[in-house]
Amino acid sequence: MAALEALLEETREAVAQRIGTGRVADYIPALARIDPHKFGIAVVDLEGRVTALGDAHEPFSIQSISKVFTLTLALGRLGQGIWKRVGREPSGSPFNSIVQLERERGIPRNPFINAGALAVSDVVISGAGGAAAAVEEITGFIRRLAQDPAIAVDPEVAASEKATGYRNAALANFMKGFGNLENPVEAVLEVYFKQCAIAMSCAQLARAALFLAAGGRDPVAGLEIVTRQRARRIKALMLTCGHYDASGDFAFRVGLPGKSGVGGGILAVVPSRCAVAVWSPGLNANGNSLVGTLALEQLAAKAGWSVFLG
Ligand code: DON
Repeated sequence: MAALEALLEETREAVAQRIGTGRVADYIPALARIDPHKFGIAVVDLEGRVTALGDAHEPFSIQSISKVFTLTLALGRLGQGIWKRVGREPSGSPFNSIVQLERERGIPRNPFINAGALAVSDVVISGAGGAAAAVEEITGFIRRLAQDPAIAVDPEVAASEKATGYRNAALANFMKGFGNLENPVEAVLEVYFKQCAIAMSCAQLARAALFLAAGGRDPVAGLEIVTRQRARRIKALMLTCGHYDASGDFAFRVGLPGKSGVGGGILAVVPSRCAVAVWSPGLNANGNSLVGTLALEQLAAKAGWSVFLG
């Protein structure tokens, strides 16, 4: 623990000059107001011990990190059937790209780009029996994983996304036109915006993802969340698609399965060891946390964490 605390301190020192740099997501007005100098990092190990630093206990908008949890739920409902609705290849395109969706006839390249996540939300709605029930299912699942009943959707962020989400509305309409949404476009968008607007801290996020570090089991609660094979596959998708058109660069620099969000969070998994979450709101050109990526690169190198060892 003490050693890990020292590593986190060293990590912060290594990126200190850059904290506050990058561009806060301003296409969602409620996110544009976030202080770019926030910086937090939390590690939760397989015993559930939390090592945290900076703003690691302050909730922020998890945005696309939610897609890891909704994918887990949708896989529970459809199993392999999900791959008829969405692909599992890196897109090489920005997260909100429309062009690729037309070329591929409404089947999004993977579950983490926006189009893919809309299809995944649609699957969760069909399973839950409606949009409100789907939002309840998603928040309930995340609360159980994080062992924290206080986790909730930030209504201001959700409303802000809804008011400005023209591009997501275009993607959803496009997919509906191709017959790849079962539910009304409005219901799919509502669930998608609300899941993205869930507020969580780094410590809560890392705790919620612990099952991915532990072969699909929550090692503290002693519960199987998904099978070992499914956990392996979710991590494979995080590694190959979790950072959109920068997924290759993240794998090269950090070497861990990760998922970013435009709120400035990144969730990473160190298999058989721990889950890590970092928050720094300034984004790089690909819409991923600039300092968050640098911090994970530093931490992974110092700790010797990588899925490419040996
Ligand atoms: O759909 C959007 O634009 C946001 N709700 C989520 C995008 C996001 O987090 C992309 N990740 N880096």
